[in-house]
Amino acid sequence: MEKKNIDWANLGFGYVQTDYRFVSNFKNGAWDEGILTEDANVVINECAGVLQYAQTVFEGMKAYTTADGKIVTFRPDLNAERMAQSAARLEMPVFPQDKFVEAVLKTIKANEAYVPPYGSGATLYVRPYMFGSNPVIGVKPAEEYQFRVLTTPVGPYFKGGVKPLTIRVCDFDRAAPNGTGHIKAGLNYAMSLHAIVDAHKQGYDENMYLDAATKTYVEETGGANFLFVTKDGKVVTPKSKSILPSITRRSLIQVAQEYLGLEAEERVIPLEEVKDMAECGLCGTAAVISPVGKIVDHGKEICLPSGMTEMGPITKKLYETLTGIQMGTIKAPEGWIVEVK
Ligand code: PLP
Ligand code: COI
Repeated sequence: MEKKNIDWANLGFGYVQTDYRFVSNFKNGAWDEGILTEDANVVINECAGVLQYAQTVFEGMKAYTTADGKIVTFRPDLNAERMAQSAARLEMPVFPQDKFVEAVLKTIKANEAYVPPYGSGATLYVRPYMFGSNPVIGVKPAEEYQFRVLTTPVGPYFKGGVKPLTIRVCDFDRAAPNGTGHIKAGLNYAMSLHAIVDAHKQGYDENMYLDAATKTYVEETGGANFLFVTKDGKVVTPKSKSILPSITRRSLIQVAQEYLGLEAEERVIPLEEVKDMAECGLCGTAAVISPVGKIVDHGKEICLPSGMTEMGPITKKLYETLTGIQMGTIKAPEGWIVEVK
């Protein structure tokens, strides 16, 4: 199979249309078999549930080319599980989890020519998503849905790759205590757009959201969880019921403990404690681990000792081990890597 003529090394995090996408429809209480199609357009009624009341959930995952030339995905079963939880919270039918993984693998296989080569620094981003497709005008769940999987080759989420980011403590809230912060619903991202545009205007790369109820504890950013390293070398990540349970973060905790022999813990992290941290990073499928060099809290600067030129040493070890597992140069824990055949 010949690869597409793409400048892999200079890809940003954007949409590049690939050849195939998977589509399945839910009607009369059941999902159809689904097909791969070359048609990248979605045609739905003007009054579709997703257009009126934002009934949509999604996932984000990647396909990697390993050092020995295989194409693999990372823990797709966990994306399937999280999408089921997201759908349930928005009163949407669950797309069966085994069929989710099958659809993802099939779509990647069909777009093999777009999977960036090993060592290029790029990956194939995979976006499964689902939305209410029939007309809804009274506020209620749709009765018909479409599940789709699209793929697009991507480079680093943050321009500048591994250059440490400057973020600000944000006054806007991302998620209410008993709201939808823990699921991957489009609505969580729509409401973050004003905050991120404003952050960029003020010269910041991202927003640090705090818990909405007390404005005391670190939650997450608009598209990634936080990971901190304490001055005594412990990896800590925020525990909260209103943040997305990041698959990258859960994997990194295990990597820290089992591969690097570090203490790692999920616990509440007061903003007040951040000034005592040694390293900070943003972790997620798109972000991988992007280092944070500076956090600005209403004019007060918190400068991480790891500085503004490179990743902190422990963050770097975590990054190298995780990407080594994903690219097949480090042995993965059982079940983490699923080959696309
Ligand atoms: N938090 C938010 C708000 C996200 O959008 C993402 C991205 O998926 C993450 C965290 C990281 O999650 P994961 O590691 O599962 O990609
Ligand atoms: C991901 O990391 O997959 C996400 O969905 C985050 C988004 C900001 C691109």
